[in-house]
Amino acid sequence: MDIILLGPPGAGKGTQAQRLVDRHGMVQLSTGDMLRETRKADTALGRQVAEVMDSGALVSDEIVSAMIDAKLATLGAGQGAIFDGYPRTAAQALSLDTILAAHGRTLAHVIELDVNEDALVERICGRYTCANCGKGYHDKFEQPKVAGTCDKCGSHEFKRRPDDNEDTVRTRMGEYRAKTAPILPIYDARGIVARVDGMADIEDVTAAIESIIKG
Ligand code: AP5
Ligand code: MG
Repeated sequence: MDIILLGPPGAGKGTQAQRLVDRHGMVQLSTGDMLRETRKADTALGRQVAEVMDSGALVSDEIVSAMIDAKLATLGAGQGAIFDGYPRTAAQALSLDTILAAHGRTLAHVIELDVNEDALVERICGRYTCANCGKGYHDKFEQPKVAGTCDKCGSHEFKRRPDDNEDTVRTRMGEYRAKTAPILPIYDARGIVARVDGMADIEDVTAAIESIIKG
């Protein structure tokens, strides 16, 4: 089963995708994570991607759609994909249809995380991840069980994203409103959109998503 998690920056897409991976063996396809890998390389593409991401603007449709196509080619038919942060424009939504058809896959649900934008800056500016395994945490909302030690891998190294500052977050939210929210009607017309209250506790959001997936 393939699903899209849709929502503005800080809505909880990554948090919920990780939980679906842990519980159902689904595969998280986060274009943000793929681009963070790309920007590590000291290449023209890496530098270009870093500049765009740090501004809060969107990377080109061609680059991200090619990344998704390449990742899907590595998945088995029985492995469900969670699209986290993709598609983000009407052009990407069109490309996804073509890519899914080419890989013989279908989209079961588009799950929209409905959130109050005022809370998102606090969520994003408090976020950090394990530098070793990538598990996500938050200064206030999701702390490691033992302070300074990752619950999942035991590492003591953590990191924060360079685009997680208030100015860039506001630009990212503007991009979401202008380019990503308008793709919802495409999926609404297909009757596959489910809305979840993303302001609920993390556990409750997970439970709501699980019930959608179980049908
Ligand atoms: P990307 O990495 O996708 O960032 P984003 O969409 O801005 O979303 P975030 O990762 O910030 O938020 P999230 O919804 O995953 O929230 P999280 O679960 O971490 O993209 C980054 C950049 O890459 C873009 O700006 C763009 O430049 C580029 N890019 C990526 N994809 C692209 C594409 N398709 N096309 C073009 N460009 C692209 O949660 C946030 C925090 O809140 C966490 O600390 C978490 O613990 C906490 N939290 C989560 N849920 C709850 C809850 N229910 N209650 C309380 N706290 C919660
Ligand atoms: Mg994310």
